[in-house]
Amino acid sequence: MTAPVPTPRLPTPDSDALLHCGKVRAHLQAEIGRAGGWISFARYMELALYAPGLGYDAGGAAKVGAAGDFITAPEMTPLFGRTLAISAEPVVRETGGEILELGAGSGRLALDLLGELERRACLPTQYRILELSPDLRDRQRALLAAAAPHLLDRVVWLDALPDNFRGLILANEVLDAMPVHLVRWLNGACFERGVAVESGEFVWQDRPLTEGPLWQAAKALDPGVDYLSEINLAAPAWINSLSQSLAQGVVLCLDYGFPRSEYFHPQRDSGTLRVHYRHHSLDDPFFLPGLCDLTAHVDFSAVADAGVESGLRLLGYTSQANYLLNAGLLDLMAEMSPMTSDYLRAAAAVQKLLQPSEMGELFKSIAFGRGFAAGLPGFGRGDRSGAL
Ligand SMILES: C[S@@+](CC[C@H](N)C(=O)[O-])C[C@H]1O[C@@H](n2cnc3c(N)ncnc32)[C@H](O)[C@@H]1O
Repeated sequence: MTAPVPTPRLPTPDSDALLHCGKVRAHLQAEIGRAGGWISFARYMELALYAPGLGYDAGGAAKVGAAGDFITAPEMTPLFGRTLAISAEPVVRETGGEILELGAGSGRLALDLLGELERRACLPTQYRILELSPDLRDRQRALLAAAAPHLLDRVVWLDALPDNFRGLILANEVLDAMPVHLVRWLNGACFERGVAVESGEFVWQDRPLTEGPLWQAAKALDPGVDYLSEINLAAPAWINSLSQSLAQGVVLCLDYGFPRSEYFHPQRDSGTLRVHYRHHSLDDPFFLPGLCDLTAHVDFSAVADAGVESGLRLLGYTSQANYLLNAGLLDLMAEMSPMTSDYLRAAAAVQKLLQPSEMGELFKSIAFGRGFAAGLPGFGRGDRSGAL
């Protein structure tokens, strides 16, 4: 007999948050009603995260950081952004170009990257940010205005991908935030798992999947056993749009995930969908919609295939630990004065970023290039492109 798993004591949302959640639920249920009683999980996730003025990402909650629901690498230590600046330097120098950050969170990565590039006398002419959330745009502008006002006039917020971009396109933890479809494989057939409403509550409902792009992707992946997982159709389309935007330079994405053989491993038979609420990781995506982050791990083989099919060259794929060590994270740390509180804080964060049991192995870095000849610091040792 196994001991019962204790239910975590979750912080109670305040009355404003509950009111907001009620509006999101009503919006989702109305959409399900309009659609005839069923929507795909991808549509549910898209609305729960991004419905204008309502979704998790559109709302005003803290989200990233200690007061929010989850923490990302740039929030843990400035050394993360500064190490990425070492990767950015040859790209900015060779292309004479710019940096475009997608989904820039609190603006912390932009701040640390620009600060390090300034130190290296390699500031890009512009640092562009494509941010879907108006609330996060305001937060990014406020952080940069407070911490580096002299750099603010280089930062430009975009509403769409630019044409003929030259430079570095950067996305940290963006792929995992894209809406995913859920697919169930059972006895040689495929089903799409979607969302319906029963007695006012969201419930799962599976529908046979027999045609279309999702069915084609699902057929190609058939694990041959009873299996549930996610398929991210948005990611290949997104990579393709980045490729169309990039005239010369590099696309660099960091995120958590696996190559296909590990993603669709027989033991991972209920997928990777997670819900983040106040630093608790839960598995019920119907919990407090609009107040929780929803994510799925990244199938890096699908990302690599999409990049190469769209005409980009795969420059490297490796673990976050390898990537940061190759790029020179420890050299930056060695410049710090030891035994200060800053150093001790940095050491604790770096340990988290690098340790295999924390973020070092689960997180990966993948880069694509076009017309870029210089090597990219980060992929020197331990390249795993062969595993994709
Ligand atoms: C987990 S947060 C990461 C934020 C930040 N990059 C960081 O590392 O702290 C994911 C971000 O990706 C953004 N995002 C999702 N899909 C996107 C897309 N197609 N284009 C640009 N940003 C996107 C979301 O709005 C959200 O701000």
